[in-house]
Amino acid sequence: MPISKTIAKQLENASWIRRMFEEGIRLKRERGADAICDFSLGNPDVEPPPAVLDALRRVVAGNKPGSHGYMPNPGYAEVREVVARKLRKETGLDFSAEDVFMTVGSAGACNVILKSILDPGDEVIVLMPCFSEYQFYIANHAGSMVPVETDDTFLPDVERIRAAITTRTRAIILNTPNNPTGRVYPESVLRDLQQMLARTGQPIVVISDEPYKSFVYDGKRQPEVASFIANTAICNSWSKSLGLPGERIGYLALSPQLGDTTALRRACAFSNRILGFINAPAIWQWVMLEAAEAAIDAAPYEHKRNVLCDALQAIGYEVRRPEGSFYIFLKTPTPDDIAFTKLLADEGILAVPGVGFGRSGYIRLSLTIPLERIEKSISGFQRAFLSSSRL
Ligand SMILES: Cc1ncc(COP(=O)(O)O)c(C=O)c1O
Repeated sequence: MPISKTIAKQLENASWIRRMFEEGIRLKRERGADAICDFSLGNPDVEPPPAVLDALRRVVAGNKPGSHGYMPNPGYAEVREVVARKLRKETGLDFSAEDVFMTVGSAGACNVILKSILDPGDEVIVLMPCFSEYQFYIANHAGSMVPVETDDTFLPDVERIRAAITTRTRAIILNTPNNPTGRVYPESVLRDLQQMLARTGQPIVVISDEPYKSFVYDGKRQPEVASFIANTAICNSWSKSLGLPGERIGYLALSPQLGDTTALRRACAFSNRILGFINAPAIWQWVMLEAAEAAIDAAPYEHKRNVLCDALQAIGYEVRRPEGSFYIFLKTPTPDDIAFTKLLADEGILAVPGVGFGRSGYIRLSLTIPLERIEKSISGFQRAFLSSSRL
């Protein structure tokens, strides 16, 4: 049965992560799962905190009448109020329940806002390297992705962003802490970006995709994007912060500084419905009524970051220590990241080549792998480093 040409082409573009996934299955079958150190997937390796599981048990045991039915498309009013309260505290802005839309993860939130603002051919600026799904989210709504390179340290280059803005620009996607680079955008960059955007006078929405917000290391915090940039639409979820990406619960929040959002609110509620989500999962909304502010402990990830970065540095790799998220974007000792990924696979180490995120010469390593696997992988990283000089 034929499939759409668009999907066939997108499958081809998405092939790096898929190929690594398939390579992982093949290697595990061939050598046994214990022999493989899989750094390829960003799937949290810790269980949700007891407070969340307790809340889930209470919701299920309570079995409140009507709690499994359809609801308003943006979600339960009392849950939206809990999220608004959390946002008021974090950002200092006057979020109300009406600004919040419960969504199917941050991915759902990104799709809802893009669907609500894009007409065919409208442009969305994406900072490179980036989470590889953004290209597909934008294409889902007939938008056109405009890639803009970040600077040498993976921070947004405000001048390059300004130069990429046209009359068709409707949005910029910011993702901090960043997947794949681990960078945490500082206040100064957010301030500069706001000043530049204000000068354009265009109603450009800054989509702030924040699922890694609670993963910031060295005692630092992620500055609140919405506190610095007026036209922010926050996309967030509890996938990473509570270790439940399979449950699909998150939210979209429209900043009170966006001006009159009457039409945009109606559009977001409608988009949530017609994208086929209808609404975010009911049970998980009720759980968030109690557990919205819980978070898993980020300290084990910081420890794994330190162990791996120190070991890689000692071998001779050029390491940029991530400040947040749970990825290391590692410069490969040879510019050919695909060849280097193959060398690592021969050592039983699975990584994703940087080309999959739009930047060759790097690989992405996910820290959602047990510490003992990281320790086990070090000799393989060393052998691959030495062999790379023969590539
Ligand atoms: C940058 C980024 N945005 C969004 C998502 C999707 O997350 P969610 O499970 O909240 O939909 C991911 C998942 O890995 C991600 O890395």
